[in-house]
Amino acid sequence: MGLTRRLLPLLAAAGSTVGTSISDCSVGTFEQSLPSNARILSVAHVAQNGSYGEGRSNIAYPDIPSALPELCAVVVNVTSSPSSSFRFALFLPTEWNSRFLEVGNGGFAGGINWVDMAVGARYGFASASTDTGHNSTTADGTWALNQPEKLTDWGWRAIHGTAVIAKSLTAAYYNTQATYSYYSGCSTGGRQGLREAQLHPETFDGLLVGAPAWWTSHLQTWTTWIGALNAQDSQGHQRIDPSLFPVIAAEIMKQCDAADGVEDGIISAPDECKFNYRALECRAGRNSSACLTRAQLSTLRSIYEPYFANGKLAMPGLNKGSEAEWQVVLGGTEPNGLGTGYERYFLFNDPNWDWRDYNDSIVEIADKLNPGSATASGFANMSAVRDRGGKILMYHGMADGLIPTGSSEYFYRQVAAATKGGLAHLREWFRFFFVPGMGHCSGSAVGAPWYFAGPNQAPRLSTSAYSVPEYQDRRHDALLALMAWVENGTAVDSIVATSWKSPSDPGSGVARQRPLCPYPQKARLEKGGDNDEAAAWTCR
Ligand SMILES: *[C@@H]1O[C@H](CO)[C@@H](O)[C@H](O)[C@H]1NC(C)=O
Ligand SMILES: *[C@@H]1O[C@H](CO)[C@@H](O)[C@H](O)[C@H]1NC(C)=O
Ligand SMILES: *[C@@H]1O[C@H](CO)[C@@H](O)[C@H](O)[C@H]1NC(C)=O
Ligand SMILES: *[C@@H]1O[C@H](CO)[C@@H](O)[C@H](O)[C@H]1NC(C)=O
Ligand SMILES: *[C@@H]1O[C@H](CO)[C@@H](O)[C@H](O)[C@H]1NC(C)=O
Ligand SMILES: *[C@@H]1O[C@H](CO)[C@@H](O)[C@H](O)[C@H]1NC(C)=O
Ligand SMILES: *[C@@H]1O[C@H](CO)[C@@H](O)[C@H](O)[C@H]1NC(C)=O
Repeated sequence: MGLTRRLLPLLAAAGSTVGTSISDCSVGTFEQSLPSNARILSVAHVAQNGSYGEGRSNIAYPDIPSALPELCAVVVNVTSSPSSSFRFALFLPTEWNSRFLEVGNGGFAGGINWVDMAVGARYGFASASTDTGHNSTTADGTWALNQPEKLTDWGWRAIHGTAVIAKSLTAAYYNTQATYSYYSGCSTGGRQGLREAQLHPETFDGLLVGAPAWWTSHLQTWTTWIGALNAQDSQGHQRIDPSLFPVIAAEIMKQCDAADGVEDGIISAPDECKFNYRALECRAGRNSSACLTRAQLSTLRSIYEPYFANGKLAMPGLNKGSEAEWQVVLGGTEPNGLGTGYERYFLFNDPNWDWRDYNDSIVEIADKLNPGSATASGFANMSAVRDRGGKILMYHGMADGLIPTGSSEYFYRQVAAATKGGLAHLREWFRFFFVPGMGHCSGSAVGAPWYFAGPNQAPRLSTSAYSVPEYQDRRHDALLALMAWVENGTAVDSIVATSWKSPSDPGSGVARQRPLCPYPQKARLEKGGDNDEAAAWTCR
């Protein structure tokens, strides 16, 4: 081992690390900083341009990041209760930006999110990720059967415990505390961030929250409800075969594209579209594979309209324009495991629970039991983030077909309602951005600009990407924007989203750029402007 210490290189972006030294990348460096319930599983030095991950034994995140900066990789096992434990990993880059970042997970996935951690390390963050206490793919909830402690790890405890321990390991390695702590996560990752902010607002100075699955008790039950709605024919409803989704998408685009004032193939104001359903109705002489029966149109309305359970809003409807992603929660002949898995293994502990027995009272049961205390409905608690000087950037793709976009708007409005001064004051520390045309966390089926270095986005490009290639600045990169807001007070008045000619290849050249605007502002095209140019738009 030895006590050799290397002097940190002088870093332009991180003046505070100058003169400090980093410790050996060895078990001894970290051991004494661990609480008694944690054990080091491995410590490994990774050379510049190296790779590190678990590969196929990590069924949730099998991709192994490449082109890593030189770093120290630490994996820790934490006993969280007599019947549960979680693991987390920490990347400690030699060229440290003096900050800490924790990244989130997706769905019910149990696994260390190596690829998003690696993205963080490329910026220079000490970056951590937890497996949330189990080992599973994203739609598999079987691990939760009669395991309330594992559910608590998944609900919030693993994210919190990881932050606390990883921060102290970070301090042990660099011999100084991180100056700022950040969080970045989408979907379940978004929920994890909001939940941590509600329970432990001191943990993060800034949170980047994408398409949060915050309303667990409603979202998972809605997933069963809507999956069941389209799984089979029922009274008054008829299943819409997935082969009709593109037909619906085309008619929606035809009728709704211009509702936002610009015909550009991107639906930016889905709520303002007065959709004429009858345009899709089967009539004599019409191609019967490209139209919907009245009973199917009834199903279609239920998809777009809010779901009320026993008279209360359970979930806003899916947006018009989300059809390209419907396969996951609407396409099957039975509901997705993200729905049925919740009732079977989280709520009722009954693997034989049949989705055909779904009823609206289950939403209320879910609210009451709230397995793992996962639901991030602590609206009033969010202001503790403001009180500690923290900032939140939240966004949601308007073409999300897995989590209704309206659930994020609802969340934001609830927090505004719980904030003195409402929306106007909320904007001072918490901003929400719709992303027109973007699907769930990343990508766009209609060629809309969708990339702004949000969580899960860089891994869509490659196992070595990070930030926004050629535009690595706070105007185009949401994480850099968040940092500037937290550290310099530079409010985020817009984030420019980018798309490329070849969707996942920045080398192919920029196709479109457009600002995302803080709610309730919208991007407005200047008269005569080129809608593919960011400068042609203003947020108003
Ligand atoms: C980095 O590693 C990759 C293999 O992962 C290799 O193809 C490439 O040449 C390396 N680049 C440098 C600069 O060493
Ligand atoms: C996760 O479970 C799979 C089997 O489903 C197994 O192959 C793999 O080794 C496990 N991974 C870990 C990290 O325990
Ligand atoms: C982590 O610790 C728990 C005990 O709390 C143990 O059951 C589990 O096997 C350990 N995991 C690993 C990967 O060592
Ligand atoms: C009928 O619609 C289907 C689905 O859009 C299409 O594939 C097919 O070519 C159409 N047939 C005719 C005769 O237009
Ligand atoms: C709804 O389903 C739950 C769980 O299966 C059951 O306990 C309850 O009795 C049902 N309620 C109604 C009104 O059918
Ligand atoms: C609000 O925060 C407190 C801790 O400060 C916590 O005990 C409570 O559970 C939180 N409530 C919600 C709904 O998140
Ligand atoms: C804060 O502002 C300074 C001076 O303009 C700049 O050098 C620094 O990069 C900014 N910090 C962040 C996190 O944006």
